[in-house]
Amino acid sequence: MPEGGFRKKVMGAELALTFHDLILLPGLAVEPSEIDIRTRFTKNYSMNIPLVSSPMDTVTETEMAIAMAREGGVGVLHRNCSVEEQVEMAKKVKRAESLVIREVVTVAPDQTVGEAMKLMETHHISGLPVVKGGKLVGILTGRDVRFANPEFRVENVMTKEVVTAREGISLEEAQDLLHQHKIEKLPIVDENGNLKGLITFKDIMLRGKYPEAARDEEGQLLCAAAVSPFDLERAKKLDRYVNVLVTDVAHFHNSAVLEAAKKMVEEVEADLVVGNVGTYQAAEDVITKVEGVAGFRVGVGSGSICVTTEVTKAGSPTLYATASVADALRDYGLELPVIADGGVRGPGDIALALAAGASAVMAGNLLARCREAPGTLVSIGGRYYKQYRGMGSPSAMAKRYSLDRYSIPSKGIAEGVEGWVPYKGEVSTAVRELVLGLKASMGYAGARNIRELWEKARFAVLSPLGAQETRPHDVLLPSESERGA
Ligand code: XMP
Repeated sequence: MPEGGFRKKVMGAELALTFHDLILLPGLAVEPSEIDIRTRFTKNYSMNIPLVSSPMDTVTETEMAIAMAREGGVGVLHRNCSVEEQVEMAKKVKRAESLVIREVVTVAPDQTVGEAMKLMETHHISGLPVVKGGKLVGILTGRDVRFANPEFRVENVMTKEVVTAREGISLEEAQDLLHQHKIEKLPIVDENGNLKGLITFKDIMLRGKYPEAARDEEGQLLCAAAVSPFDLERAKKLDRYVNVLVTDVAHFHNSAVLEAAKKMVEEVEADLVVGNVGTYQAAEDVITKVEGVAGFRVGVGSGSICVTTEVTKAGSPTLYATASVADALRDYGLELPVIADGGVRGPGDIALALAAGASAVMAGNLLARCREAPGTLVSIGGRYYKQYRGMGSPSAMAKRYSLDRYSIPSKGIAEGVEGWVPYKGEVSTAVRELVLGLKASMGYAGARNIRELWEKARFAVLSPLGAQETRPHDVLLPSESERGA
């Protein structure tokens, strides 16, 4: 018999309010142009927009991760593939642009020009540092090989006078050197002449093209990847390439999961975001049992493709989970980011989640609509849609069980569905609209930044009838998809 009796337990149940239930009350308005939405993704990494793409196989692979980071957010690479495939995706994100390339493709002086040209073609690059025993001895550019006999040795055609720089050179200094010497590549060498990295004109140009991009300390795009908390082997293989690992389990509050996460935090260098966490008690258990966590992914069962709560009647709506976990962190004096995951339908929901204590939101549905998402583009009734499926949907699970020995089909039920979402176009377009809407929302709430939103936001509950009034009414409208809703 529960303490206080069943009646009290049932009738005194907590109200788990969701995105559908709440609105933000207007405050003393702030102009959207004065609003700063920079935020933190984890303890150690920042983003310029509070948006993260979900680790789902119809949402985040290389292209989405690159696009999200260039827009100032982050993509979390899904794990519904082999470890090698996931590592390859992470490598590609990291190689997409950087101030200093660390894994430099080089050629030896005694190789032939033909071999060097093949290397350039394979790696889509226009020049190669020439290295002998780790030391830089020359550089081979497109100009050097253009009219050279492919049989020649590299050392006979390479440029021997190489302009180099030392570790720690700033972007501006590198740019000046490239301009001054009219060169495109600047090798970084140590005091003994050993090649340590390479700065290219192309990468510097890309930085100018994406000034809002989220980057790490090396100037490379931020990259995160999902792992099962039990898959330490995968986590270790990804650790070299990603900044952040995100645990990918529907219900993190589980003794075996907590134990596994504890081990993972100790063994990896990347920041570890844990989730999905749903309640104050779960957050409390993580805080007290797993030291070194860098962020919380929160919400259970609110995702647009979820059937978890429908099937099991168990769940923790994203908004409720966000507020609960944010409270637990505050009560323990911790300033760790909360990422609200699932059910975000547009900028208003992003604003609600942030106001409820989140630092960022994770989106599946909203981003699966974009060109950069891996889902197939289909035409239905003259309109374009993209495939979108839950990672607990039968088809996604079937793929996972055939690949990943850690994903044991323990529950034996599907917790997700598969369907289509209207095609939106480029990530940059989708993000621009979300950011404009979010700033408008924060402007209404009177918040200049996310921290101010945490302090100033006031919520109000809508009745189900009242909610109808917040949508267009008493007017004949084109269908939802026609007005882009
Ligand atoms: P949205 O609403 O953005 O939600 O589509 C994306 C989030 O949903 C979670 N997810 C699932 N939840 N069954 C679930 O219960 C599933 O099959 C499933 N697949 C994804 C996940 O947290 C994701 O970020």
